[in-house]
Amino acid sequence: MSDTPLVLGIETSCDETGVGIVHGTELLVDAIASSVDEHARFGGVVPEVASRAHLESMVPMIERACRQAGVALTDMDGIAVTAGPGLAGALMVGVASAKALALSLGLPLYGVNHLASHVAVDIVEHGPLPEPTMAMLVSGGHSSLLLVPDVTRDVRSLGSTIDDAAGEAFDKVARVLGLPFPGGPHIDRASGDGQITIDFPRGLTGRKDMERHRFDFSFSGLKTAVTRWVETRRAAGEAVPVPDVAASFQEAVVDVLTRKAVLACREHDVAALQVGGGVAANSRLRAMAQQRCDEAGVALRVPRRALCTDNGAMVAALGAQLMLKGRPVSDLSLPADSSLPVTDVRTGLPVAVDHDH
Ligand code: KG4
Ligand code: ZN
Repeated sequence: MSDTPLVLGIETSCDETGVGIVHGTELLVDAIASSVDEHARFGGVVPEVASRAHLESMVPMIERACRQAGVALTDMDGIAVTAGPGLAGALMVGVASAKALALSLGLPLYGVNHLASHVAVDIVEHGPLPEPTMAMLVSGGHSSLLLVPDVTRDVRSLGSTIDDAAGEAFDKVARVLGLPFPGGPHIDRASGDGQITIDFPRGLTGRKDMERHRFDFSFSGLKTAVTRWVETRRAAGEAVPVPDVAASFQEAVVDVLTRKAVLACREHDVAALQVGGGVAANSRLRAMAQQRCDEAGVALRVPRRALCTDNGAMVAALGAQLMLKGRPVSDLSLPADSSLPVTDVRTGLPVAVDHDH
């Protein structure tokens, strides 16, 4: 292997088939096929539909990634794949594909954690991660605050959602307001035409909750409050001011997310906050995070939108870091683990690195 590993990363934990290629810390390509349109009419991701779409997209995405990067599979130094957490059947397609590549090409295989990959991707965007970094990952599937002393081996969960994920709340509230799926971008856009006129509840921010659930989130009470507010207006035959409801809901979510993230930085003496996941695209979240980080003297890092949502580049980025730091390779019995704990950055039985390769 050269000093700068060329790594192919595969991501299939949800509805995106991502294949990325990273050379050391340089992103060469990020090929992605999404089955989101196939799920739209169900109002959420249907696991079986996602798995089948991954199967159909996998080989074309690998071919496209190699073609666009101008490299051959035989040029690779390693294969990385999301081993969890995520949808079991969807993960299995990626893990089986990665094993087939690693075995047939004689390459080391790295089964990696999806959440740690969301953090590692910022290395190809903004350079080395400050150690420690605080990461807030907010998407349709997860809402977590992570303390990251070393993304290749030490990721700690400070808190996460106890019910709906942040993106899920956006999607559900959008549905109540008659906006299409996925709802986040529509709420973001509608909010631009509205005013924050309704004081919706901020979950888990009361004094007692801040003792027991200091860095946890809860969005289902907020979703219910919005639903009730809208239903009351409709029952009274009144028009629902969609932009105002959207802006007020968005403010409640973003207020809690940024308040807890910056508090976590302060209390753990961390000088950098990274925000990732699909909800990181939210314009109000970006603005409020920037303002609160500036006030707290915390550097805010948000990767570009395509790298915030699920993609293969993030998996390749973490794989390359594992190789650069000489972390153990995963063995071929590596399982897809739908509930892989965030502390398992790399998974599967460790096998010795073949330095002659
Ligand atoms: O990371 P992602 O693409 O997929 C996973 O869920 O893993 O995130 C998708 C989520 C959806 O819930 C979508 O509504 C939300 O991210 N989202 C947004 C915005 N863009 C996407 N939420 C709020 N504001 C946005 N601009
Ligand atoms: Zn994700």
